[in-house]
Amino acid sequence: MCGIVGYVGQKNCREFVLEGLSRLEYRGYDSAGFVCIDQNNKHLSFAKEVGPVNRLKEALEKVDYDGTIGIGHTRWASHGPAEKKNAHPQFDCQKTLAVVHNGIIEGHNAIRKRLLQEGHWFDSITDTEVAAHLLGEAIAFHKSLKAAIASVLTQLKGAYALVYLIEKEPERLLLIRHKSPLVVGVGDSEMFVGSDPIVFIDRTNKVFFMPDDSYAIVSSNHIEAYDFQHNPIVPQIKIHDHLLEISNKQEYEHFMIKEIYEQKRAIENSILFFKKLNGQLIDYKSDDVIVPAYVTNNNKDLEGFWGQIGLDISHVKNLKNLDIIAAGTSWHAAYIGSYFFEGIANIPTTVQLASEHRYSKFFKKDNQLVLTISQSGETADTLESMRLVQKNDIPVVCITNVAASTMMREADGFLLMQAGVERSVASTKSFSTQIASLYWLAHRIAVEKGILSLQAMKEAEEQLSLVSEILECSIENYKWEIMEKDAPFYSTFERFIFLGRHISYPFALEAALKLKEISYIFAHGYPAGELKHGPIALVDEKTPVVIFSVLNDLIYEKLLSNAQEVKARKGHLVVFAFEGQDELISLAGRCFVFPRVAPLLAPLAMTGVMQFWIYQITKFLNRPIDMPRNLAKSVTIE
Ligand code: G6P
Repeated sequence: MCGIVGYVGQKNCREFVLEGLSRLEYRGYDSAGFVCIDQNNKHLSFAKEVGPVNRLKEALEKVDYDGTIGIGHTRWASHGPAEKKNAHPQFDCQKTLAVVHNGIIEGHNAIRKRLLQEGHWFDSITDTEVAAHLLGEAIAFHKSLKAAIASVLTQLKGAYALVYLIEKEPERLLLIRHKSPLVVGVGDSEMFVGSDPIVFIDRTNKVFFMPDDSYAIVSSNHIEAYDFQHNPIVPQIKIHDHLLEISNKQEYEHFMIKEIYEQKRAIENSILFFKKLNGQLIDYKSDDVIVPAYVTNNNKDLEGFWGQIGLDISHVKNLKNLDIIAAGTSWHAAYIGSYFFEGIANIPTTVQLASEHRYSKFFKKDNQLVLTISQSGETADTLESMRLVQKNDIPVVCITNVAASTMMREADGFLLMQAGVERSVASTKSFSTQIASLYWLAHRIAVEKGILSLQAMKEAEEQLSLVSEILECSIENYKWEIMEKDAPFYSTFERFIFLGRHISYPFALEAALKLKEISYIFAHGYPAGELKHGPIALVDEKTPVVIFSVLNDLIYEKLLSNAQEVKARKGHLVVFAFEGQDELISLAGRCFVFPRVAPLLAPLAMTGVMQFWIYQITKFLNRPIDMPRNLAKSVTIE
């Protein structure tokens, strides 16, 4: 969480820093700040504003200071509310040293206490401010910057990407990386710093991804880097040939609705891309799918599709156990995907929440593969879980949407989705593309294991294409009814229950998450069979119960009984059903009906309407849809 931007070079930096901060707003938007060494008076000049980066931009329009070295920050509040005093940059007592931070400094209270006793005074209640005071104190005591850093490092715990701007060091930025990401873009007599290369990728494609546990003193022409044992590191500059995908809203009111409508293309592009990796599609011509130059397999000498994604083919052939680790919406997609791997590839599959997995006892299994799923490729819990698995010598393949993300770089292999930049905090096209990718991968593994024929694989690809079409068309079918009738009606309720069974259960969890995160209406996702064990006590005419059907006759019958239980208690039923499921449809107060598809793709078919329905209810409530309160798109802290 939190985004960092920095610049040192020959040009004024303010415009670059502000533009970079806007690109990093997905990491938090509680406040933003900028500081530079003012070229006129050679002192630190800064501005901070509560709220999104645009507020900071407006504030800076009223002043004219700028400089050739500066840093900026967009904050997701962890320690201290979203107030100006807690915004970054934070300073030392003399206000001659500024720092921006991404992460959490553990034990900061004890450090603060000691510093207070020694006569320091603090302006904020952030953990970050201690990092400013510690370095300020160390610089006063030690002769070299390196020695000062060494002393600070012995005191800092937790996770931190820190960038310091020091008045007495007008030509050098100091960068420290422990767990949270930090990258340097190497320009022509200028260096760019960011939490993500998106900050500078239109200015340089030469990137130094700082290794974990390293620090660097960066001037316009030079990077002097060290590990935490103070051994010099030769910076590995990689060519990052990735096009800058700046997504704008075009004619849409919000990124979320634009991204809902982009799902068909996101799925199609991803499948085309996988097919291309798979050696299919000789006549492939789409310009939409960008194959990044660094789609390699972490330099392993492996061949074919599995080699391209970083796996040894014999490992896939002998695969006996699969574990999937993810967080948030990605965890819901993973859960849905587990039915694919078990049902199609016959592999026992577990699905784990990264935040739980990383603190649970770890069991190695025979012929095991771990998949991590992360839209951003940066989620701290998923990343740490992945590292834990790798320490146990189990290969990890990461499915992500962000090329060169930390997870993609560190995983043994990766399957890079082609959903395109997702800007809205609430994940939509990533969710559906993750489901499609997992469906495709389950078939590909089944082919390799000799369970499925190539013809079956081809049919699966056709099914995915058909279902992505249904996803889009069904939104069009229900669009006006949802906007004119459903949105005003359902926005009046204060709580919802979402139910599913089997593969529609994780889908119900996703729907509940979507509703609560953007509309702030309380929503409870539950397995329909468990309704009678508690949640049924909540059923009344003021609590709509939304049921997502399945395309499995046995489970459908059970769901039908659950729907009747709700009806018998005067509950208002909203049903997402499939053609021919007349009994379920007849019970509903409101019903959405979808064409029948391959049974395991039932959730994907319902995805577009579910998201559109929730989007329109939220829009009616006039909520800040793309930037819901308290959330961030990339969660880089525990
Ligand atoms: C945040 C986002 C969610 C996302 C989750 C996991 O909570 O708001 O939309 O599902 O992180 O993110 P990941 O990038 O790992 O998929």
